[in-house]
Amino acid sequence: MYLITGAAGFIGFHISLELLKKNEKVIGVDNINNYYDKRIKYSRLKILKQFPKFKFFKIDLNNKINFSKKINKYKNKIELIIHLAGQAGVRYSIFNPGTYIQNNIMSYVQLLEFFKNSSKNKLILYASSSSIYGEAGSKNTLSSEAQTKPISVYSASKLSMELISNVYNSLYKMNFIGVRFFSVYGPWGRPDMFYFKFLQKIKNNKPIEIYNFGNHHRSFTYIDDVVLNIMKLIKKFKNSKRSLCDIFNIGNPKSISLKKFIDVLEKSTGKKAKKIYTKKHPGDLTVTRSNVKREKNIFNHETRVPLKEGIMKLISWHKSYYK
Ligand SMILES: NC(=O)c1ccc[n+]([C@@H]2O[C@H](COP(=O)([O-])OP(=O)(O)OC[C@H]3O[C@@H](n4cnc5c(N)ncnc54)[C@H](O)[C@@H]3O)[C@@H](O)[C@H]2O)c1
Repeated sequence: MYLITGAAGFIGFHISLELLKKNEKVIGVDNINNYYDKRIKYSRLKILKQFPKFKFFKIDLNNKINFSKKINKYKNKIELIIHLAGQAGVRYSIFNPGTYIQNNIMSYVQLLEFFKNSSKNKLILYASSSSIYGEAGSKNTLSSEAQTKPISVYSASKLSMELISNVYNSLYKMNFIGVRFFSVYGPWGRPDMFYFKFLQKIKNNKPIEIYNFGNHHRSFTYIDDVVLNIMKLIKKFKNSKRSLCDIFNIGNPKSISLKKFIDVLEKSTGKKAKKIYTKKHPGDLTVTRSNVKREKNIFNHETRVPLKEGIMKLISWHKSYYK
């Protein structure tokens, strides 16, 4: 049995769906916060709830009593935990730093405290982020190199989760895989992310702000490739006999400029956007680039979906969802 935290979120929804299609039992947990429009979270859940092996609990991970009340009876059945609940977004963290401490660090500690003595738990796979590389991300850094220079509270909270995982591995012999995601995009994506806003604005003929004059570079990664690589990690490590506490990049090794990404979006929608070019925002990284050398060797990391194909799929989903 799997516990997926953040199951109503973008990545949590896709991972839950994949596992349910494989006939696995999934317990989903999410507090359905209002960081972005909740309606899309409920729409995602509606799909997951069609599977009889899916059970959902609306719980805040910070609420120890409620969490224990609802999850205690499954505690000794849950073998794998995929922890995707958390507060995402670099820009939001500049103005709301406290929520990152609460929902990324504190809630993670609460989850680990709950499961630290579980006899059944084999592996905790948790979401970290490419942002932990700071500006060193432009140097094609290997995931095994220690990082110490985050430039936002968001990335510092993710780096803290990596450190905390080391602690629980050492104290309680819990097994961990951290995954650093790189700008994930695709159907059912996050409305706060650039590509999503872009599609809404282009549809409504409204102008859109392009940060750093479109010169940011990102390893844009299609959601199906994220799911594919997480499934590979689970297969490889779920029965690991040795103590495990590692971190991997999951991301398209091809880093492209925002300008190029916009160009493909425009060509694929057949519409030109009204663009307002603005300067770089504090906390934003200039470049993220996913180095998957280690990942290819260890679990055969793959990037299957080319940008144009991913964008076409995103656009066709967006059209059908916002009819
Ligand atoms: N999407 C990306 O490009 C990306 C990149 C790097 C890292 N990440 C990380 O991956 C994880 C999943 O990202 P996502 O894009 O699916 O984000 P998301 O916001 O769509 O999903 C996160 C879910 O967690 C829930 N949540 C937040 N705090 C909670 C709490 N205290 N208790 C219970 N539920 C809570 C939210 O309601 C939300 O549905 C996040 O940790 C994010 O920081 C995502």
